[in-house]
Amino acid sequence: MKKILLSATAIVVAGAFALTGCSSERGGTPAASGGSAKGFAADAKIGVALPDKTSENWVLAGKLFTDGLTKAGFKPDVQYAPASNTVAEQQNQIQAMVTGGAKVIIIGAKDGKQLSTQVKAAHDAGATVIAYDRLIENTDAVDYYVAFDNFKVGQLQGQALLDGLAKRAGHPAPYNIELFSGSADDANSAVFFKGAMDVLEPKIKDGTLKVVSGQTEITQTATDGWKAENAQRRMDALLTANYSSATIDGVLSPNDTLARAIITSVQQAGKPVPVVTGQDSEVESVKSIMEGVQYSTINKDTTLLVAQAIKMAQELQKGDKVDVNDTKSYNNGVKVVPSFLLAPVIVTKENAAEAYANVPNLLDVVKSYNK
Ligand code: BGC
Repeated sequence: MKKILLSATAIVVAGAFALTGCSSERGGTPAASGGSAKGFAADAKIGVALPDKTSENWVLAGKLFTDGLTKAGFKPDVQYAPASNTVAEQQNQIQAMVTGGAKVIIIGAKDGKQLSTQVKAAHDAGATVIAYDRLIENTDAVDYYVAFDNFKVGQLQGQALLDGLAKRAGHPAPYNIELFSGSADDANSAVFFKGAMDVLEPKIKDGTLKVVSGQTEITQTATDGWKAENAQRRMDALLTANYSSATIDGVLSPNDTLARAIITSVQQAGKPVPVVTGQDSEVESVKSIMEGVQYSTINKDTTLLVAQAIKMAQELQKGDKVDVNDTKSYNNGVKVVPSFLLAPVIVTKENAAEAYANVPNLLDVVKSYNK
């Protein structure tokens, strides 16, 4: 157990070091540390506003927040934005948390650009606002950001695509690829895509990679609402228009839900499955990876991220300084938000057992294939 804990710490610490050198592109001047709470009651109400359940990580986060905050002595108020009327409902939920006297409001934004009014109201009421996983944009009323380093996620996905092509395409470059990105209303989508293009663009320029459709702009690659059916529909259209005779060798997919939709599209078209990336370590995708179908995913252990957010709430409760490890990378358009960034880990069939050493349910999945 001790060894497991140590290695988890080592990953986080190594990530923190790795992060200090790589973020000048997203830089800016450090903001003054936010946080309006000067300590508050140990059994205070803590609001957690999560988006609609577009991937397994969100489903898991809700339960972990309820359990973890309760165990820490707080009164949790955990709400999900419903699938319809999502933005307005999330706005209402946050406003209700403010009115209800929450001392800290942790927000996984449905649309990071549409919460300025609610987070300002939170501030005016003396609450501290923590953006969770997704940045809240264009407001100075967000105090902290806790997330896996999204730019690094994109870079790892780009590199996995290149590595996978070299291993699996069965022929030398050039490789035919297509690019997908996430929903435009999620601030993460552009960051994932920029990170991936940081790795892929030079290879597109030098001819190693060929985006056969020519669709390389984020406006062309976006997947509305992070919905599987939208990715599948776009992939169907790309195959029909560009791959009647050509072979598709690889697809950049920003997460596992979309990766599986893209793979389904290719399979239904009767074509060999290309190298497809992913993110989130969803059980179905881990199985697919172990079966040699999906190529890669990313391990962003939700348990660690929720624990870090709860730790921030505890620091605020005590009136302690909030622990952050990055004050230059995440500019929300108005300020650089002091952040605690965790390090994402790339997972392929080769390193799955090692990558999930601390994630028991996924380790069991991997072991069931490695018997
Ligand atoms: C999260 C991803 C997730 C996506 C869709 C993003 O903001 O960072 O982990 O796959 O939302 O739910």
